[in-house]
Amino acid sequence: MKELRTQVVIVGAGPAGLLLGHLLEREGVDNVVLERRSREYLEQRVRAGVIEFGVANLIDEAGAGERLRREGLVHHGVEFRFERHSYRVPLSELADGKTITVYGQQEVVKDLIALRLQSGAPLLFNAEVAVIDGLTSDEAFVEGEDSEGKLRISCQYVAGCDGSFGVANRSIPASLFRKYERTYPFSWLGILAEAPPTSEELIYCRHESGFALYSMRSTTLSRLYLGVRPSDTLDAWSDDRIWDELNVRLATDATSELRQGPIVERSITNMRSVVVSPMRHGRLFLAGDAAHIVPPTGAKGMNLALGDVRVLARALLAQLQESDDSLLATYSATCLERVWRAEEFSNYMTQMLHPSDEDDFENGVQLARLRQAVHSHEASAVLARNYVDLNSL
Ligand code: FAD
Ligand code: PHB
Repeated sequence: MKELRTQVVIVGAGPAGLLLGHLLEREGVDNVVLERRSREYLEQRVRAGVIEFGVANLIDEAGAGERLRREGLVHHGVEFRFERHSYRVPLSELADGKTITVYGQQEVVKDLIALRLQSGAPLLFNAEVAVIDGLTSDEAFVEGEDSEGKLRISCQYVAGCDGSFGVANRSIPASLFRKYERTYPFSWLGILAEAPPTSEELIYCRHESGFALYSMRSTTLSRLYLGVRPSDTLDAWSDDRIWDELNVRLATDATSELRQGPIVERSITNMRSVVVSPMRHGRLFLAGDAAHIVPPTGAKGMNLALGDVRVLARALLAQLQESDDSLLATYSATCLERVWRAEEFSNYMTQMLHPSDEDDFENGVQLARLRQAVHSHEASAVLARNYVDLNSL
């Protein structure tokens, strides 16, 4: 068995684990990042796309924003469609001039991996952690396996950045935390298509047949989503059926058909809200999806993960460099306030845009909420501020 020692072990090389590793390494704190997947897999995994104003600044300040600033698409507004009409919410006007940047999560991951490899600090791919222990003793340790065999790393702290199905949140004794959870009766079918964007801004659409979202990745790649039943499989959705349904749902009296192109990636994601509280157990700190999941309607998943890391990096540095425990002591409470706010916003966006098959009272309430969101200055302003920069509020 290979035995190592470091100050912080980071489990998971998603956006959270990679950014944390970089922020610590930059300040001279030794850390090892362990990731069960390959580099190729991580760099191709298509997920989130909207980066908040403050989170783009965070990535920039960390020295990982060069390509994001060059290639990211800066948006000043977002469109809502319902009842065949289109309404624009002028995000920047309503949120102190702030903008969002559309830039794929896997691009953020590529940029962070490149920085890490440049620094020479350890990032082990194909290294799966099986055990995290010693969390309430003088020293913690993780055990796992990489391509060369078994591995044990002793450390002062463990950062659980390994997503909701990882090992970190399962390492907290059940009696010591609470999991708050909601599952929604719909999923999202997402596609990436080699088609130039039809619209310059994102379009969130509520149609009586279901939700649709129009997004993009570049001037040649479109990203679109359809609300589908949780029992639906990809086999049931041919390319033609996907485009037909997108065209039906996104149509207004004033718009033409979507630009279509070959579909190069597709997946179905179920919709959940989860909060694990507290986000700490002894020497273990949870960050990102390991601690909370939001339905993607608010575009908050990755932003929230990076928001946690900003707080955790500062807290670990204060402890390891100045023996100041105070920020680690308040880590969970500090994060959870923002996490619940993002849960509320994501739940609000989800409930407003996904019609119910069964409950027409619910449908009436949804439409009233949507009308208020686009017609009331106050409601639009709250939506805009939450959408553009919730993590800094
Ligand atoms: P992750 O990115 O999940 O990274 C965790 C990493 O830990 C993974 O690379 C995993 O392989 C690794 N890992 C797990 N277990 C172990 C182990 N035992 N040992 C070592 N490594 C381990 N959000 C949006 O805003 N918009 C979207 O469209 C969107 N789409 C999504 C689609 C899917 C299928 C999923 C799962 C999530 C999506 N999200 C979306 C959410 C967003 O992508 C996440 O919030 C974001 O990835 C969180 O980052 P993270 O670093 O916390 O976790
Ligand atoms: C995306 O571009 O993938 C995207 C955009 C907005 C969302 C979710 C996903 O709310």
